[in-house]
Amino acid sequence: MSQPTYTIITGASSGLGKALAIQCAKAGMNLILIALPGGHTHSIAETLAISYGVYVHAFEFDLTDSTILRQQLDYIKGRFSINFLINNAGIGGTASIRETSAEKIDQIIQLNVRSTVQVTHLLLPNLLEHPRSYIMNISSMAAFTPIAYKTVYPATKAFISSFFHGLREELSGTGLSVSVVYPGPIMTNSNTSRRVISQGIKGRMGLLPTSVIARIALRKTMANQPIIIPGIMNRFNLMLMRLLPLGLKLKIVSREVRKEIQYSPA
Ligand SMILES: NC(=O)c1ccc[n+]([C@@H]2O[C@H](COP(=O)([O-])OP(=O)(O)OC[C@H]3O[C@@H](n4cnc5c(N)ncnc54)[C@H](OP(=O)(O)O)[C@@H]3O)[C@@H](O)[C@H]2O)c1
Repeated sequence: MSQPTYTIITGASSGLGKALAIQCAKAGMNLILIALPGGHTHSIAETLAISYGVYVHAFEFDLTDSTILRQQLDYIKGRFSINFLINNAGIGGTASIRETSAEKIDQIIQLNVRSTVQVTHLLLPNLLEHPRSYIMNISSMAAFTPIAYKTVYPATKAFISSFFHGLREELSGTGLSVSVVYPGPIMTNSNTSRRVISQGIKGRMGLLPTSVIARIALRKTMANQPIIIPGIMNRFNLMLMRLLPLGLKLKIVSREVRKEIQYSPA
């Protein structure tokens, strides 16, 4: 009998990662869920396994700790056959750069950029062993423009976009398909919800339920689409933004984002 294959999801204990875990389990995929220690990852794994009759394993560790990340992934690679990687874990925030600590900046870059590249690099040989395999990467609509008061976050999401499109081209001709998802605002946790609400009607344009974003992202990744922008409003917004010169676009978006500062944790 052939070995069961697994999908790894980073940041799977809440928000979009959890919604992706539910969609994947519904589709009959076995899962490896990764999140920080002390959360609900183990109970989510248990619930999904019972509800959908799939194998689900939970691993709790800090993805920004390179040594632990390598140890944990070596363990996972040695025991499971991985044919799908979902790079979802990511953090951001809204604050003036002058009010942001060096530690916070480093944390965003380490999680969004370094750990994502490390996880992908470590798992590539395993993914390439399969005739068909997938990498889904969660970027953001923020990748399409620099934004004041977010500065680091959109830059990390633009990195994800650039890195994975380059990787897709490099691996074309193999059975590994690489997709980048650009969600608009998602009310995944109390902070992002407060930030979206603070934007009024404009903030809610392009807002989709997390489960809908997860469903679209999974279906389109499996259809080998390189660029996935869930929601017609987000695609329309992007089209409009592309017509504006950079200076004007920066001013419009940054003015709106500035309103979020009071709702973002320091
Ligand atoms: N929310 C939005 O409006 C929005 C819009 C566009 C794109 N996105 C992107 O979508 C992705 C998911 O966002 P979300 O809002 O769903 O996030 P979320 O609800 O804050 O969940 C983040 C997940 O990542 C995990 N995580 C955080 N730091 C970690 C670390 N150092 N090591 C391991 N796991 C860690 C968390 O684990 P714990 O629960 O254990 O802390 C949690 O499972 C991110 O890449 C984000 O940039 C979000």
